Formats: sequence, C-alpha cells, structure tokens
Amino acid sequence: MWLLRQPHSLYGKMIDLNKIPTHVAVIMDGNGRWAAKNRVNRISGHNAGMESMKNIVRKASDLGIKYLTVYAFSTENWKRTEEEVSGIFKLLVKFVKLDLDELCEKNVKVMVMGDYSVIPDNAKKSLEKTMEKTKDNTGLQFNIALNYGSRAEILRGINNIIADEKKRKINLPIDEKLFSKYLYTGDECGNVPDPDLIIRTSGEQRLSNFLLWQCAYSEFAFTDTLWPDFTREEFEQIIEKYQNRERRFGGRN
Ligand code: IPE
Ligand code: IPE
Ligand code: MG
Repeated sequence: MWLLRQPHSLYGKMIDLNKIPTHVAVIMDGNGRWAAKNRVNRISGHNAGMESMKNIVRKASDLGIKYLTVYAFSTENWKRTEEEVSGIFKLLVKFVKLDLDELCEKNVKVMVMGDYSVIPDNAKKSLEKTMEKTKDNTGLQFNIALNYGSRAEILRGINNIIADEKKRKINLPIDEKLFSKYLYTGDECGNVPDPDLIIRTSGEQRLSNFLLWQCAYSEFAFTDTLWPDFTREEFEQIIEKYQNRERRFGGRN
C-alpha cells in the first residue's frame, strides 16, 4: 500500500498515483495510415494496433486504472471491405487466445460492449470464453467496444425502457441514473462510471459515435500519433497532463 502512494516516475514523468483517472477510454485510430506509411497492408496495421492495445492494457493495469474502454470496431466499420473486417476479428481472436493467461495473471476482467451477437462465430466464442474466465477478476475492467455505436446504444436503451414500462417494471418519468443503466455501460457491463478521460490518436478530433451520453464531462486528449506508434510513455504523459487539469463539472472553483 505504501509503495502505491508514491509518485510514479518512470521515463522521468511524475504521475500522482492518488489522482489516477477511474475510467480511461481510447479511440484507437490510425492503423490504416500507419500501414500506408510503412508500406504494408491494412491488416498488418491492425496487427500492429493490437500490440499497442496490449501495451496500454498492461500499463493501465499497472497504474491501477479501474476501467479501460477501447473502441475496437464501430457500427459504421462494417462499411469496410470483407477482407479488412474479417481480418480485424481474426486478430481479436488471436489477442484473446494468446493473452488470456496474462490477463488472468494481472487480474483483468474483460467485457465486450456493443452488439457482438452479429460478429463471426469463432470471435464470439473466444470472447465469451474470455469473459467467462475473467468474470471474477477484481483488477482492471477492460471493456472492448465491438460493433459499438452510441446512437444505436441510446436507441436500444429507449426501446428497452418502453418495454419495461409496459411490463410495469419501471415508472415514468425516468431520470439520468436510470437511463444510464439501460446503456451498454450500464447494468450489462457492471455500471461503468463515465469516462474521466477520452484519448483519440491519429490527429482526428471527433468522437465517431463513441460514448456520446457518457462523455458529458470527460476530459479529451487528442494526439497526432498513429495508434500503432502509441507508447506506454505517451499514455503516461497524457495521464500526467490530465492530472493537472481542473475539472469543474459546471460548479465554481
Ligand atoms: C482504427 O484504425 C481501427 C478501426 C477503425 C477498426 P483505422 O483502420 O481507422 O485507421 P485509419 O483511420 O484508416 O488510418
Ligand atoms: C473510429 O475510427 C472507430 C474505431 C477506432 C474503432 P474510424 O476510423 O472508424 O472513424 P472515422 O471514420 O475516421 O470517423
Ligand atoms: Mg480511422
């Protein structure tokens, strides 16, 4: 315990371990451009992106972050070629299979956020196995947003609310707290708190349908780094900067 309270000073950066964000969300963007830059195919770009993802899961776990959510595949990403889409899912299977032991060793709990019923069968099975195997872990909760889109999430929540009201399970009007429970981040994923920090790589400054309800008071960090080039050091630097921001939530300082 004593050790944990010391400032974390790897790479010369000072992270205050008493002010670690509870929930960090990452829009892992730029795999395609990284592939073009390195003259390899897009799948190789996604493969390199998986390596970055692994590094960040490890780092998040080591820093004591409670929730890490990564945007891995959006409801709009089906617009890509069949080859790219199936390649991404194959890589995910590879990740969960190869890294399951390490995830368990690190006490990481894996959850999938989004409608994954429609993803390829073997990817679904591997993910379900991983979720089952890690369900009692009490360390970092690692949420993989897969076939996730925030507008679809909100509409699904509203439709479920209407259905539950008809069954007299809930009473109208609903409040923010109850609405949040109907989102993927709600009851389904153990009521994940809203993200404190949302990071997007690759220089784009948009949300692309990610956590639209949940980001009301999130801090944002945009970096030009392409996701496969994103390092643990940069992750630490971003967290350090986040710790120096003042969050007011509409109040006064
Ligand atoms: C992010 O990288 C990964 C997914 C969206 C699945 P991209 O594939 O979007 O990379 P760019 O934006 O084309 O560089
Ligand atoms: C957002 O990236 C989705 C993921 C990172 C999974 P995109 O590459 O799909 O977003 P746009 O098209 O640039 O907005
Ligand atoms: Mg992109």
